[in-house]
Amino acid sequence: MKFGYFDDQEKEYIINTPDTPLPWINYLGSENFFSLISNTGGGYSFYKDAKLLRLTRYRYNNVPLDSNGHYYYINDNGTIWNPGWQPSQTPLDSYECRHGLGYTRYSGTKNGINASVTAFVPLQDPCEVHKVSLENITDSPKDFTLYSYVEFCLWNAMDDMTNFQRNLSTGEVEVEDSVIYHKTEYRERRNHYAYYGVNAEINGFDTDRNTFVGTYGSNQEPVMVGKNSSGNSMASGWSPIGSHRLSIHLEPGEKKELIFVLGYAENPDEKKWSAPNVINKEPSRSILEKYKTTAQVDEAILALKKYWEQLLSNYSVSMSDHKTARMVNIWNQYQCMVTFNMSRSASYYESGTGRGMGFRDSCQDLLGFVHMIPERARERIIDIASTQFEDGGAYHQYQPLTKKGNLDIGSGFNDDPLWLIAGVSAYIRETGDWDILKESVPFDNDETKSQSLMEHLRRSLGFTKTHLGPHGLPLIGRADWNDCLNLNCFSTEPGESFQTTGPSEGPVAESVMIAGMFVKYGKEYATICRMLGLDQEALETEASVKEVYEAVIKSGWDGNWFLRAYDAFGVKVGSGECEEGKIFIEPQGFCVMGGIGIEEGLAKQALDSVEEHLDTPYGIVILQPAYSTYHKNLGEITSYPPGYKENAGIFCHNNPWITIAETMIGRGNRAFEVYRRTCPAYTEEISELHKTEPYVYSQMIAGKDAKNMGEAKNSWLTGTAAWTFVSISQYILGIRPGFHGLIVDPCLPDSIGEFSAVRKFRGADYHIQVNKGLDGDTKAILVDGIKIEGNEIPYEEGKKEYHVTIML
Ligand code: GLC
Ligand code: GLC
Repeated sequence: MKFGYFDDQEKEYIINTPDTPLPWINYLGSENFFSLISNTGGGYSFYKDAKLLRLTRYRYNNVPLDSNGHYYYINDNGTIWNPGWQPSQTPLDSYECRHGLGYTRYSGTKNGINASVTAFVPLQDPCEVHKVSLENITDSPKDFTLYSYVEFCLWNAMDDMTNFQRNLSTGEVEVEDSVIYHKTEYRERRNHYAYYGVNAEINGFDTDRNTFVGTYGSNQEPVMVGKNSSGNSMASGWSPIGSHRLSIHLEPGEKKELIFVLGYAENPDEKKWSAPNVINKEPSRSILEKYKTTAQVDEAILALKKYWEQLLSNYSVSMSDHKTARMVNIWNQYQCMVTFNMSRSASYYESGTGRGMGFRDSCQDLLGFVHMIPERARERIIDIASTQFEDGGAYHQYQPLTKKGNLDIGSGFNDDPLWLIAGVSAYIRETGDWDILKESVPFDNDETKSQSLMEHLRRSLGFTKTHLGPHGLPLIGRADWNDCLNLNCFSTEPGESFQTTGPSEGPVAESVMIAGMFVKYGKEYATICRMLGLDQEALETEASVKEVYEAVIKSGWDGNWFLRAYDAFGVKVGSGECEEGKIFIEPQGFCVMGGIGIEEGLAKQALDSVEEHLDTPYGIVILQPAYSTYHKNLGEITSYPPGYKENAGIFCHNNPWITIAETMIGRGNRAFEVYRRTCPAYTEEISELHKTEPYVYSQMIAGKDAKNMGEAKNSWLTGTAAWTFVSISQYILGIRPGFHGLIVDPCLPDSIGEFSAVRKFRGADYHIQVNKGLDGDTKAILVDGIKIEGNEIPYEEGKKEYHVTIML
């Protein structure tokens, strides 16, 4: 069942019922100011950091679901309703929500009034703009009242939710004309404020929640809206809100537009210690002037649309499979950009107060956005590398505002260092910017300990080389990619957290997945060395890669598939000998992606085993059989109920590894089948089962052991976005950056006969036409009519257009 449809022309998903199985959200913002907005107007805003500079309040885990947001109420002769249905839930005569790229427009009609809200964050400015259109679609005049509503957050979202003894006394506001200022200070900070204005005279306002909503009232029907009045309240402590009241008169057929702006401003530093709390209103005034008329707002929306068109134009395809095309051209790339902006911080499943920027997560996300925003990817690489330790290890996470490593989580995830090579290698292949390797980058953010980025990569690789276990396989540390496979936590006491206590290191527990990564990224590092003329280092690296490769064949092959790991007692994990958890997906994907076992015929066998044991109609589960009991020697993974998350859920993130691996052994049909099963445009039809947004990937879908098999969770912020984009765009469609130029190497299913693509690469446009001929698998590539050797189109400095045809 569907709850909407795609409009590819407008690049929108249109939702036609407000009570979707879960809130279906969108993200507004592209630089500093961000908002989450659901299809019914729920959500919140923050500036730069979802934890430290939260503008509006949101209650996670709320009942009714998703009932706080940036709302408008209409009181039309006693009928109280919201254009987005929430929070009054008054049934609407018609409803529609369009989530577009960086904007959302929702509208509702009730008793002859149509109200529509277009919400977006303009490209450069720290504010959210709402264009509210009100139209009388009846034959008689209409008089009604419009209320706006936001509830302010006292900046630090964590403190806001917990520290009531203090923060019920700190709230401060100011009202000037139609602008409500929220100027509560956060402890010693006296240099910022939020403001909420409208471009019209108001008839009343409220800034104190109890006055507006009622002490025992609710958002569903605020007492002031019921009374058709305002308290003109000035919050002093308690819970500051912003609500404007406007009396509206509309002649038959008349339409009025209002513009509401919610913004963030910083006071100049010298005001820091001034008391009483006097704010400098200049920054807010200039923004309110800038978004005052419909024409100004429409222009800003147009600029936003152009920005997105430009971003997406770097990779676009045209083919008869319109579902795949829509993901490649629009939604998959869009989600990749959202992971760039948010990392793992704020979604409807990530509270914005917990996880910040992940070292491994951000390096992988980069694979999905580097072609759109190479300069910002470059900055991101430097930020990430700056948190690395001198021994090559890394903080697992860092805070976006301070860019400092997160001490609470610490380090010890032994896959982390290798992801830096993955990210940097992708960046160089995309841009040809070899100079980045010469950048001086600190270790642990300590400028006195700076070395070239190349040295950082060297230490990343060195970390694995110096952390090998008894079988010559990499030691796992606290965990590898699978955060919950905690093989060194056997001494953890009940009640202690798996990841933060217990020995993080151990001399024995080894990961076959990291071995696969080492082989894959070690080879890429060796190529980088060779390109830099470091032949000796290239040879040495290749020798280390070969040793690990051989260790995998010798001790990491289980007979029908790759073993997952050895635990701290040297016992096999992910082996046919185990009672549960006999086979895991990760090493099958990563070892084959590293090329391990392709010549020996093991790769094919491993991937066949995946199909035999791990397949479901909704994607490939992470392991089988699910763990039914808790095992101290395996850690958090066995704490999940069977079929969920890392315990045999369909962890979408590693499905594309199988897709890529399948293309490496030339099986286009199977590769595409794996791609299609988790692809949102394809699973849209089962939205009632999946429940999450049908335009983006979710982190996890319940596996076959779960009661609710096929139900998805944790949409938006997942490495799935980047990896599926890599799998479809670079491997199935086969257009991927190489070190010397663009590679064209498709591995298509029978269902895709031909396609064309435009790829912008290193300043040139590549017009690529892929046709299927009858001459088997000989691939002939013509560049501007001339046949080339191999599949990498040599890059020519200054050349702006390449016309490429390939006959499969
Ligand atoms: C989460 C984490 C990611 C990890 C994965 C598997 O998605 O963000 O870093 O690799 O879970 O545990
Ligand atoms: C928990 C989650 C896992 C995630 C990790 C991040 O272990 O189950 O999916 O990767 O937290 O820290």
